[in-house]
Amino acid sequence: MKIQHFESLRPVCPKCRQNTGMEMWPLRIAARGKQRDGVLVEGRLTCTNPQCLGEFPVIDGIPILVPDVAAYVAAHQGAITRRTDLLHETMSLIGDCCGPGSEYDTERQQLSTYVWSHFGDWDTAVSAGNDSQAGSFLRLMEAAWQLSGPRPAGPVLDVGCGVGRSAWHLAERCDTCVLGIDLNFSFLRIAQAILERGSVKVGWRKIGVVYEPREFAVDLPAGDKVDFWCCDALALPFASQQFSLSNCLNVLDCVYSPIELLEELERVLVTDGWLLASSPYDWSAGTTAPASWIGGHSDRGELHGAAEPLLRQLLSPGGHSQSLGSLRLREEAEAIDWTIRVHDRSCVQYQVHAFAAQKEDPGAEP
Ligand SMILES: C[S@@+](CC[C@H](N)C(=O)[O-])C[C@H]1O[C@@H](n2cnc3c(N)ncnc32)[C@H](O)[C@@H]1O
Ligand SMILES: [Zn+2]
Repeated sequence: MKIQHFESLRPVCPKCRQNTGMEMWPLRIAARGKQRDGVLVEGRLTCTNPQCLGEFPVIDGIPILVPDVAAYVAAHQGAITRRTDLLHETMSLIGDCCGPGSEYDTERQQLSTYVWSHFGDWDTAVSAGNDSQAGSFLRLMEAAWQLSGPRPAGPVLDVGCGVGRSAWHLAERCDTCVLGIDLNFSFLRIAQAILERGSVKVGWRKIGVVYEPREFAVDLPAGDKVDFWCCDALALPFASQQFSLSNCLNVLDCVYSPIELLEELERVLVTDGWLLASSPYDWSAGTTAPASWIGGHSDRGELHGAAEPLLRQLLSPGGHSQSLGSLRLREEAEAIDWTIRVHDRSCVQYQVHAFAAQKEDPGAEP
């Protein structure tokens, strides 16, 4: 956690915010166990509310700022305590022992998929193979960025940043600090390792539980403006009206309530701030209950499952009873290619919908 980011973003206690509605209690750095060049690598933040005194650990440079830290750490103890210094052969043996479908295997698969998507272009083996799919996320990020217009002053939030490429992309385009947030600790560890060491160690999934070890440099500009924190996008540890842009690529169909996600992103935007979002609307009942799918889930429903018309209504003044306050749709792109790699013989190719919305002055006359 960059101290500069902590001081300029002034995070508030996510536990107090959740328990008391909108009460904002600042966090303070209570312990600096390990520090290097303005980065708190290991330490502890606490809530300044004497009735709360909630504690939030910083591990491998990643502050865990979620409302229920105990539940998060218990549910992600494997990823948080995972050793990253093991030889590939040892990891391969562990992978064989845990087997397909295990937590260990799922984490390796996800890292293979998203590191390929975000940083595959930096691996000489991938770029020598002229694999155009490895660049689809870069093209999506740029296409989404092109939908936005002039931005007011203020920091930038990259929501569901994964292994982090979009945060660097935004930092190159915005003269301000950029914060990438995600709930996947292994993804955030990759992103923090790139900030610290400028390199990535990963296994490209070949097939089944077989991975090819790769280690390569990633030297992206503007890293000094970027940081990565573990936060829940539906319970952000920030006061309202703080960010000039919320970037939210391919996350809407990964949360239990996409509408609550949009409302939370609107809350933290300053007036004239931008929301940039994309999604394949690839709903799954395990993540989002069908009743919460934007556009519905029934063939006989008014929208036949289409998310786009409902979003247009939600993001226009008085267009829908379930208001998203002051967010107004400005631009959209119907279909942008986004391909993610599963293994040597499998890719998933999406056509994502992307849109840009801007926050109008909540107090202004319609
Ligand atoms: C489909 S991935 C997209 C990652 C990246 N934005 C991209 O487009 O490559 C969805 C990401 O959202 C993250 N995510 C899901 N629910 C979240 C939440 N409530 N808060 C923060 N991140 C979340 C996941 O961990 C994952 O990294
Ligand atoms: Zn608190």
